[in-house]
Amino acid sequence: MAGTEVHCGGTVSTPGRRRKGYRSAAVIGALALAAAACAGGPGGETTADAELVWAIGGPGAQPGGTFQLITEMWNEENPDTPVTIDILPEDADEQRVQQSLVLNAGTAEFDVLAMDVIWTGEYAANDWIVDWEAQRGQIEEGILDGPLESAQYEGQLWAVPFSSNASFLYYRTDLVDEPPATWDELAEVGLEAGEEAGIAPLVAQGASYEGFVVNFLEYYWSAGGELYNEDNTEVLWPSGDAAQTALDFMRESFDAGVYGPGFNTAMEEEARNEFQSGNAVFMRQWPYAYELILQDDDSPIRDDFEIAPLPTFDGDGTISALGGYNNAVSAFSENEEAAREFVLWLSTTPEVQQFMGERADPPVLAEAYDALDDDPVMSLLGDVLPDSRARPPIPQYTAVSDVMQRELFAAYQGDTDPDAAIEAVGDALQDAIGS
Ligand code: GLC
Repeated sequence: MAGTEVHCGGTVSTPGRRRKGYRSAAVIGALALAAAACAGGPGGETTADAELVWAIGGPGAQPGGTFQLITEMWNEENPDTPVTIDILPEDADEQRVQQSLVLNAGTAEFDVLAMDVIWTGEYAANDWIVDWEAQRGQIEEGILDGPLESAQYEGQLWAVPFSSNASFLYYRTDLVDEPPATWDELAEVGLEAGEEAGIAPLVAQGASYEGFVVNFLEYYWSAGGELYNEDNTEVLWPSGDAAQTALDFMRESFDAGVYGPGFNTAMEEEARNEFQSGNAVFMRQWPYAYELILQDDDSPIRDDFEIAPLPTFDGDGTISALGGYNNAVSAFSENEEAAREFVLWLSTTPEVQQFMGERADPPVLAEAYDALDDDPVMSLLGDVLPDSRARPPIPQYTAVSDVMQRELFAAYQGDTDPDAAIEAVGDALQDAIGS
């Protein structure tokens, strides 16, 4: 089914997916209302009582992106409290830097903060955000447990889950018969198919930033590794050979050319662009890329790719990092009440959450998954999310990640000694929780 999205000043058509298209009556209604408002109809005039700013990054925040379209829906329904998106950079670390600069200064520039799931502890411990205990019942009602867990710190709820990410293996159906079950098989098949087609075996996130840490952890967890015990009071790194196995695999993949050119500078969008342009056999990526590739008429592989669970070292099951956004309200907002309403609306309105799912931005509302259970992205997510792993929710997570980025990044490229890198990460993990 071809979809039509309404923007003031024009209509943008999105090509239908190969899969069954979904568009609920309510979403169509909201879009029609938006069209009427653009044409100067009811709701077109606004007297702003509170102008809210939502600080969020990534492709969905760009013009025409999912978060912008949702914001347009809100603005049509709530002309007195319109929201503007402050578009943060794509890089998760940079998003955090921009938010924390504003929060550290105690200014009211941002009302709503899209927090990566790993920042809850830090933001809460710094008193940068308000808690949601009074609304806990309403929030818990329909939202999935994993994302809810990631919005809590020391038993208190600090944000409302908004989008829940887990990663997939994207593969070329014209070059590969079956998706690989193990990392070694991926390397082998990728090298062979890549050589034949003259393209890279695998693209992923190999630059020195949070995305690399996520990629490394997926190898580490799938080798049986753990960072901490359950309550984050004891360091379990390097978990026998697990850190070594993960680092060896990355290093060998780098040396053998399993990773494509530019791997060590690639973030999500660079990897997507390469795969979408037909330059790679495999890609490790979040769900959002699926829809963007399908929408690209110029992509030579638009009809020649599929998604599968990520491999593991022993071929059993799959492990993905749990990613995503939780929305928090800034403790410095001068519009707390309206900001809370907007945040709740984003996460508990079935039409909004379903609309996100249709665009491969994974929802957090259980009901939205039920409505989309024929959708290939949502159904794979349903398989992968239960085995997804959270990065430790400690306030010092960023300090640990910084050391992992520096040490493991250098080591996988053969610039430093892997044993020293493994030791340095162990020290950072210990420092983060105190001796
Ligand atoms: C995605 C995930 C986020 C993760 C980031 C790393 O945005 O949702 O949790 O930290 O990628 O690049």
